[in-house]
Amino acid sequence: MARTPLMAGNWKMNLDHLEAIALVQKLAWALKDAKHDYSEVEVAVIPPFTSIRSVQTLVDGEKLELKYGAQDVSVHEKGAYTGEIAPRMLAKLGCTFAICGHSERRLYHAENDWVVGEKARAAIAHGITPIVCVGENLAIRREGRQVERVLIQVDGIFNTSTPEQARATVIAYEPIWAIGTGEVATPADAQEVCGAIRGRLAELYDQDVADSIRILYGGSVKASNVAAIMSEPDVDGALVGGASLDPEEFSAIVRYQQHLSA
Ligand code: 13P
Repeated sequence: MARTPLMAGNWKMNLDHLEAIALVQKLAWALKDAKHDYSEVEVAVIPPFTSIRSVQTLVDGEKLELKYGAQDVSVHEKGAYTGEIAPRMLAKLGCTFAICGHSERRLYHAENDWVVGEKARAAIAHGITPIVCVGENLAIRREGRQVERVLIQVDGIFNTSTPEQARATVIAYEPIWAIGTGEVATPADAQEVCGAIRGRLAELYDQDVADSIRILYGGSVKASNVAAIMSEPDVDGALVGGASLDPEEFSAIVRYQQHLSA
């Protein structure tokens, strides 16, 4: 089954709304110059909440084919949840995606697999595609228990998800030891875990559902290493941190197929 690759730039806590506009303009120009076909590789930017409205205005005004999303979403519909952002609010801003359970949210905000699953289902209820993050830390990797650890996360997140909800989800495998460290997993490392995730989805649902779900790799992805990772059968895209803040670099990541044919 053909899965359209997705390249998503997670800006984390970087770029105010003016800087966000400048980056999206530069990225859109770079991709236009390169005649990028968005139906072949989907492209998304994930700015901080405060920049989403500006990105929406630019994308709508210039009719850009770029998609965008949020870095987190509340499990709640509305009410007394100070600081939270409801999925309905993100849907109103035209968000296609919401990252759920990034390792930095898990670490600094104590999010667990159950909460991540609830966030994903809340997003889906409002037509937003969750990008749920999983990944092992360095100690687990050194013990060789990365597959076991990640499958526990997958089980916890998809615990009560229906096959339709599973189909509406994107998964990002981000080994924590590779995030922001320059330490990139080898293509074989990425494939080992992404393949195991798809295998578990086939057990939880069926092969058809498993084959329809996009699984991204994230962790020190750059233009120089993305093509090799993308050539693995179960890697369907990348969740890019630092390199997504540089429009030239991110546009080169999006155009990874040209590195393959070069
Ligand atoms: P880096 O690409 O900066 O390693 O970050 C990866 C990440 O956490 C994306 O969500």
